[in-house]
Amino acid sequence: MSSSLFALAALVWLAFSILVGMPPWAIVVLVAAVAGGTWGINRIANRAGSPGRRQAALLASSFAAVVSVFGLIQLVPYGKSHSNPPVLAEPAWATPETRELMVRACFGCHSNEVVYPSYADIAPISWMVASHVSEGRSKVNYSEFDPGRRAFKGTVAAIRSGWMPPGYYTRFGRHPEARLTDAEIATLIEGLRATPGLSRG
Ligand code: HEC
Repeated sequence: MSSSLFALAALVWLAFSILVGMPPWAIVVLVAAVAGGTWGINRIANRAGSPGRRQAALLASSFAAVVSVFGLIQLVPYGKSHSNPPVLAEPAWATPETRELMVRACFGCHSNEVVYPSYADIAPISWMVASHVSEGRSKVNYSEFDPGRRAFKGTVAAIRSGWMPPGYYTRFGRHPEARLTDAEIATLIEGLRATPGLSRG
């Protein structure tokens, strides 16, 4: 009974984590830590007595494990540094509006001008944000524009196909500024086509 409750909670956490873009390793680490913590705390609690209240003890152990894991992961250094390296080179944006729309929809992961929300200080959200930013920057960084890198030419295609910004970024009402209207997308694509190095052909 309690173990199926635990499995259900893990499944809900899994589904939610995937929908908001939590990296798979973080999901695995957290589920393993909570499961291990529950097992360990429950063993100690059972040794202390109180037979016949195993269900309640297990639930209490699980709750204690969630709270302890949440506290302990705040000590992990990963994700704490909200770095923004210097801006080296941007594309020669066709219009100021092209840049504005790119800032709204893309600079949160593909620039050295990332605006970190206050909740990005709290693990595991901080881990999620750090992984999106480091992966995003490593693919294309519009603050380190390099016309020789082919990936930049995929900018228009990434937007037109609806691939970028990723669905998880704007889900559940987050980052409303990045949710561009059809008209804004059309304006952006037109601007990007007129900006050297951001489209194919
Ligand atoms: C939430 C963070 C995030 C936002 C916001 C975001 N991206 Fe990305 N982007 C990523 C990640 C992560 C990848 C790598 C995905 C992969 O390879 O599966 C990526 C990949 C890309 C690539 C592919 C590069 C290559 O490998 O060829 C392009 C181009 C791109 N993004 C452009 C954009 C544009 C344009 C926007 C804004 C409209 C945008 N992205 C918004 C995170 C983001």
